[in-house]
Amino acid sequence: MKKILITSALPYANGSIHFGHIAGAYLPGDCYARFQRLKKNDVLYICGSDEYGIAITLSAELANRTPKEHVDIFHKKNLELFKKMDFSFDHYSRTTWEGHTKIVQEFFLDLCDNGYIEERTENHLYSEEEKKFLADRYVVGICPKCGFDKARGDECPKCGASYEAVDLKNPKSKLTNHPLVLKPSKHWYLRFDKFKERLKKWIETKKWKQNVLNYAFEYIKDLKPRAITRDLYWGVPLPIESAKDKVFYVWFDAPIGYISATKEWAEKNNKKEAWKDYWFDKETKLVQFIGKDNIPFHTVFFPAMLMGQNKPYILPDQIPANEFLLLEGRQFSKSDNWYIDLEDFFSKYSVDQIRFYLAANAPENSDSEFSWKDFQVKCNAQLLAKLGNFINRSLVFTKNYLNSKTGELKNLKEEDKKFLFEIDSLVQKIEEAYENFHVRKASQIIMQLADLGNCYFDKKKPWELKKDKKRFEEMSLTITLCLECCKSLALITYPIIPYASKEIWKMLGYKNKILNEGWEKIKNTHIPSNQKILDPKILFRKIEDKEIEEEVKNLYGNFEKIKKKIEIADFEKLDLRVGEIIEVENIKKSKNLIKLKVDLGFEKRTIVANIAKYYGKNLIGKKVIVLINLKPIKIMGIESQGMVLAGDKEGKVEIPFINTLPLGSNIR
Ligand code: MF3
Ligand code: ZN
Repeated sequence: MKKILITSALPYANGSIHFGHIAGAYLPGDCYARFQRLKKNDVLYICGSDEYGIAITLSAELANRTPKEHVDIFHKKNLELFKKMDFSFDHYSRTTWEGHTKIVQEFFLDLCDNGYIEERTENHLYSEEEKKFLADRYVVGICPKCGFDKARGDECPKCGASYEAVDLKNPKSKLTNHPLVLKPSKHWYLRFDKFKERLKKWIETKKWKQNVLNYAFEYIKDLKPRAITRDLYWGVPLPIESAKDKVFYVWFDAPIGYISATKEWAEKNNKKEAWKDYWFDKETKLVQFIGKDNIPFHTVFFPAMLMGQNKPYILPDQIPANEFLLLEGRQFSKSDNWYIDLEDFFSKYSVDQIRFYLAANAPENSDSEFSWKDFQVKCNAQLLAKLGNFINRSLVFTKNYLNSKTGELKNLKEEDKKFLFEIDSLVQKIEEAYENFHVRKASQIIMQLADLGNCYFDKKKPWELKKDKKRFEEMSLTITLCLECCKSLALITYPIIPYASKEIWKMLGYKNKILNEGWEKIKNTHIPSNQKILDPKILFRKIEDKEIEEEVKNLYGNFEKIKKKIEIADFEKLDLRVGEIIEVENIKKSKNLIKLKVDLGFEKRTIVANIAKYYGKNLIGKKVIVLINLKPIKIMGIESQGMVLAGDKEGKVEIPFINTLPLGSNIR
């Protein structure tokens, strides 16, 4: 029996988790944990909320909440989503519980003891008005490179320069706009540079994915001391009397959250010391599931922190990092209205449908994509038409022609043996896929096994065998072998679609839980004869075209689609000028259109515009922006020689007016 400690990156309690996150760091972790439990290994699967840091104080302030109120909300929300999606964490903790503080401080003190911490006093930006130091994200100012006056504390959105906040000219508080001054402040630095050789030797022994190795080697090339403290009121406080107003940097405390969460798990289960059985035992395999943006912290910074401890902490064994899942080609983004409302989603579709879809589309080697159409196809053409159909027809036949009982597996012919052999080899193959974190491959193998079953069924034609009394045994054997295949499907689907797996298992008449039986036993024992099956139930619902059309319409309707990028030269083709409206005339038979005469200074134009409803005659004397090199077109029998620019939203129209520029001026 192997001891496996599995973690998924601790999500920030700063917003709702979406399918993009789930696909990268969470579903693969859960599938792996479920698989290893089925293999009867000693598994502990740990996760929790990452609740400190400046991003959280900033969002909380914007939302008019205290940071604690803020993280309480999102901790609860995210935990609910994980439950809804059938996640099997042994414990879901949070970094704001007291036990976390203690162990983070201990980590720091050990690092101090061992000479890995250095104090430095440097100038930082201070707000005399707010009586506090302000971090990068709270600061704006003038870019030291290009002079842009709305540059951020860490980088300039205009020229892309990156710098320290103290380099900004005229730095101001982002929230109050008051000027800031320089004031010395002491900070504690972790000497990552001292770990370089040890890290290098260690990483060289690792069989990680190539992208993970590349990042890791790149990062250790240039390891510098890094500040691990911040002037902030929200975080784990330093265990130093004179540093009461400082906390640890969130990326220092968060990964220690894996350990404190394990400790909390042990306490809650009344075996206080049990966390050490995992973290201090060299035999434990630590497997950490993360998204690609977290690679440096898990391959370099956290391992260095562990190496600097006096206690015998283990280091990660595997770090399966995934790429990102996009939504129809773009990053999920709630603020851009480009996301899937999860509450709405789960009121319509099932957990297994989304788990299967995300596994089948896992962003393992490159970014992948959630698309509504593809979701429908995978649910209907694969889950339902292949897997669901095979289970259903096998059970229906058993019920109708075998009196709801399994037959005997005897007198197997060549093709029957071949069928069994092929089932076995697919089970073998999927074991390897799960062992190596390839859930996408695993989802494909599930479909191959369902295909195999359907082919066998079609080839043996039990619907013909049943007509001939003399061939009853052959029919019974065929169906029983199909049930054997269903058993294997129940087994191999358990990590990805646990609900369906358990349903199949139950319908096959098993009384024991699938998890208690375990992988090896289920794999090596045929379905017993004379086992009473239950009445077949439908496992997957068909998703109709019109439902998907509705989803797509909703998604795109909520989102302003940005047009394709153009070159400056494309824009320069437009000749935009200032013109004055000197005549306004209604057009007979049209409520919306209006005929305008516009004076450009050098000539006058007639223009038909779609703005009658909003402005009518009030436009006379107003200066507007006119596109003057549009080819003339006839509208209602009138030649329109240009276009007046106007904005519109949901039927409301507004014209931007020019106040002081002379007629004929260029707009660009
Ligand atoms: N909260 C981080 C994120 O969502 C991940 C933290 S992982 C841990 O990107 F190691 F720090 F816990
Ligand atoms: Zn700049």
